[in-house]
Amino acid sequence: MTTLDIQRDVPLAPLTTLELGGPAKHFVRVEEERTLMDALRWAADEAVPAAILGGGSNLIVPDEGYDGLVIHMAINDMEFRNGGTVVAGAGVPWETVVDGAVSRDWAGLECLTGIPGSTGATPIQNVGAYGQDVAEVIEGVRVLCRDTLTFEERGPEDCGFGYRDSLFKREPERFIVCAVRFALRPDGAGTVRYAELHKSIGADATLSDIRRTVLALRRRKSMVIDPDDPNRRSAGSFFLNPIVADAEADRVVRQAVREQLATTPDEVPRYEAPDGRAKLAAGWLIEKAGIPKGTRRGAIGVSTNPALALVHHGGGTTTELLAFADEIRARVHDRFGVTLEREPRLLS
Ligand code: EPU
Repeated sequence: MTTLDIQRDVPLAPLTTLELGGPAKHFVRVEEERTLMDALRWAADEAVPAAILGGGSNLIVPDEGYDGLVIHMAINDMEFRNGGTVVAGAGVPWETVVDGAVSRDWAGLECLTGIPGSTGATPIQNVGAYGQDVAEVIEGVRVLCRDTLTFEERGPEDCGFGYRDSLFKREPERFIVCAVRFALRPDGAGTVRYAELHKSIGADATLSDIRRTVLALRRRKSMVIDPDDPNRRSAGSFFLNPIVADAEADRVVRQAVREQLATTPDEVPRYEAPDGRAKLAAGWLIEKAGIPKGTRRGAIGVSTNPALALVHHGGGTTTELLAFADEIRARVHDRFGVTLEREPRLLS
């Protein structure tokens, strides 16, 4: 067994982008796979639950904290191999991977710039933005199986990827992501697929141009963490964009036009999804349900930028955050009959 530096009563709020929630009863920072195994064994011996903390940008910590061992993932090895393969440890800050790829002119991640958090989180929620998602370029995910304490390499077909979804997200008790292997395209063309991106840039744009444009778009929406931005304390999108049956989407569009929330059906954001379904825009539904950008409930507010982020303005609690989120869900449901699902993970 390696020496484990287990700390007591460590505040978790500073380790999350929402800056909310209580302490971890036990806490350990893990830089190697061996230490990760030891930490899990320690938790089993002490009969306490163990949870993994990555970059803290998609995590809600309850006010009472975590009554167990929080393992802070800091496995930070990274390798760029000839031919476009990148292997990055779960703790590598995501932007470091994007930066390494774009600076080498390796295509596949240029739209995924400006996203806070660590590499290990990217397959879990199949991080996506501006027309790309990581599942498109993931070649393998190295996981530790928690019940057997053995390592496994899973190919993309065994990761159960979906929109902001994966097997790792659905079964958090089973796997811990330790490293991710990406297959990028050296000197390949960048992805200019997202309408908003298309408007500002040509199809022949370089990877650096695409990255710069995405960063500018994200900054405009307070989706780049900037210490001077009053909307900075958030977990990104708080709700998933709901995927509903086509007929359900038609109903919402008709309702929107009838109630003069839109002048034409085209004005209602709606995107094609697999299997005869459609993705609606949660931010749009929230605004049209009568919760405009900037709406506040004490220390918690809807971002003054996209209505899809909830912001902590300082001095608030997780209880207040979750209560406001429930209010928003209820309002959208009452108005449109659509149920919004929370996107960030609740530490429990
Ligand atoms: N919209 C509104 N009001 C809002 C927000 C959006 O009317 O407050 C409308 C927009 O006008 C647009 C549509 O909704 O017609 C979609 O908006 P946008 O392109 O800004 O994207 P989003 O649905 O708000 C999603 C992702 C983001 C990602 C962007 C860009 C989810 C849950 N969110 O946001 O991801 O950066 O697209 O691709 O899928 C995240 O997951 O944390 C995240 C930030």
